[in-house]
This record gives sequence, C-alpha cells and structure tokens, in this order.
Amino acid sequence: MRSLISILDLSVEELDQLIATAKDIIAHPENYWDKCAHKKLATLFYEPSTRTRLSFEAAMLELGGSVLGFSEASSSSASKGESMADTAKILSCYADIMAIRHPKEGAPFVASNNATIPVINAGDGGHNHPTQTLADLLTISREMGRVNDLTIGLCGDLKYGRTVHSLIEAMSRYTGIKFVLISPKELKIPGFIRYNVLEKHGIPYTETDSLEEAMPQLDVLYMTRIQRERFDDPYEYERLKDSYVLTAEKMGLAKEQMCVLHPLPRVNEISVKVDDDPRAAYFRQALNGKYMRMALILKLLEEAKANPIREAIDTSDLEYDRVCQNPKCITQTEQELPQLFRCTDKAADIHRCIYCEQRA
Ligand code: CP
Repeated sequence: MRSLISILDLSVEELDQLIATAKDIIAHPENYWDKCAHKKLATLFYEPSTRTRLSFEAAMLELGGSVLGFSEASSSSASKGESMADTAKILSCYADIMAIRHPKEGAPFVASNNATIPVINAGDGGHNHPTQTLADLLTISREMGRVNDLTIGLCGDLKYGRTVHSLIEAMSRYTGIKFVLISPKELKIPGFIRYNVLEKHGIPYTETDSLEEAMPQLDVLYMTRIQRERFDDPYEYERLKDSYVLTAEKMGLAKEQMCVLHPLPRVNEISVKVDDDPRAAYFRQALNGKYMRMALILKLLEEAKANPIREAIDTSDLEYDRVCQNPKCITQTEQELPQLFRCTDKAADIHRCIYCEQRA
C-alpha cells in the first residue's frame, strides 16, 4: 500500500501513466462510472479549499464511490486536541482512502505513517501540494502537446507557494526543462528546492524580479498568489501583495504558443481581461485536476488491494540529535512525535527535518 505525500513518491513512468489514464477517462468516462463502487474517500481539510476538496469529491463520485469528511478543523476533534496520528487511525476504520489538507508542514506524512489506508497530501502548509502538480502536468500535456523541452516561468510567491515546490520537483525529472524563477527577493524559492532539487540535479534555472523581461522566452507561465496566510508579518504581506499583475498588455510580450497556468484562487495577480486569451489555461487546469485525482484514486486503491500492508519508513539513515526550529512544522504542535533528521549534503553538513524538510 502506498500513499502520495510528495510528488517524488511517483516515478516519471507513473506520472506518465496517470496522465494517460486521465486522458482515457476524458475520452471514455462511462468506462469508469463504477470503478470505485462501495469505496469511500475521506476528505480531512483543516484549511480552506474550493478546488482540491471539491474536485476530490467529484472525482470519487464520478468513479461510483462515496465521500465523507470535514472542511474545517473546528468541526473535527482536532479542536479538542486529537493528534494527527490518532485521527489517521480512526479514519482508517471508516474509509478506504483519505485526502488531507493541513496548515502544518508534514502533517499528511505523519498520517501516512499511522493509517492503514492510502493517504493523499492535499497541501501541507507552505511545503508541498502534489495533486495540484498532477493537474498541472495534465494541463501542460494537453495545452502544449508535451511535458519535455519547455521553458517554465514561475512567478510570485516562490517561498510559500507549495504548488511551485511540487511542480519544480516533478518537472526537474523531465528532459529539456529550464526554469525562470520570477519573484521579489523576499519570496525566492526555499533551500530544500534550490539545493536538493535544482542544484543537486544540475537543472538550468535563472532568477529575476522582472516578469516583463522573462515573458518572451517562456513556453509556460505559472502565476501564483502571494500567500497571505503564511506571512508572520501582515505589513510585509501588504508591501509585497501586488508584486506582479499579469495584464493583457503583458500577454502581448509572450509567445503565441505559450500557456498561462495558475493553481487558483487568484486575488489580483491575473487581470480578468486575460481570461479570454486562448493561452489562459487556468480554468481548464482546474477541470484537469478532477481527472488526475480520479486516475490517482484508482491507482492507489488498486495498489492497496494488491498489497494492503503499509511500507515502514527506512530509519537506517535517520538522526535523532536535533530539534526542528520551523514554527510551521507538525512537530511544533504534536510534541510526542520523534524529531527525525536526514543528512542531505554531507560536504556542506546540511541536515533536514524529515517532516517539513527545513534545515536543522
Ligand atoms: N489550487 C488549490 O489548491 O485550490 P484550493 O485551495 O481552492 O483547493
């Protein structure tokens, strides 16, 4: 039995298979109407969501299954102090698969180590959002006709934008990918992406604070919202919130074959006047998310049927002699969790928390 916590839990071959399944679902939906009959998906959402929760629910319903769950922490027993580990054990009694969104980084990972059903990370703090990446990959494939040989611009909040982190992890494993990272200096990508992914694998990337300068070279422009809920200082958010606004005029600088993605919701970083441009793919991207979540649910349930035993985490290279300082890590609120670290760069003596990937 497998869970999906990081997009790196899926090989490139598996990503390609999910894209192929999603395209088959789009072409022949009737073949999938009862694939999950008598199966239940639990959606545990401790943070607000429109697309992720409802597309998961629509996905399960279109597969003939049922859904249960909650959409805010205050209506669950987390509000009485129940731990993520206990919640995962309980939901394993009621459902066949669960999707979790949580403000604390590493919370779905903790759930996956305690559940006896597959767990899907539906977004953990400013860390990862692997199923958004599945939606992004299908969108790029359908819009551009390929997922290789692309220059991808990522614009906005690259520090807290969890969709950006998962997308870079996924696209870095395809051939011919270049990234243009467009952000204010305060919102550059974090170290676990810069060093563990881009630098480690020699992926070409440039950084700029100018969207206009980057536009002409891009095949894909991935716009993001400045993530107000992740800022400790509201004045800093106010100062940075309007850093980038994509307008119809700026679209005039782009290639004719380029496409614009955005995980949504948007605030004002894409003018509504851009919506009518055929290159604006963000509403099609939200629909693609439902098809990819259908493909993912099918895959994880099939695997769980074939092998219902949860794989234990490999503890052979873990270190126990540090304390995670990231206030957004799940270890900050669930203090019974063991502090666990892994050395990610021996030469530079860098150790990262296994829950949130922040440097110790
Ligand atoms: N893209 C995304 O995660 O949207 P929601 O927050 O509405 O789920």
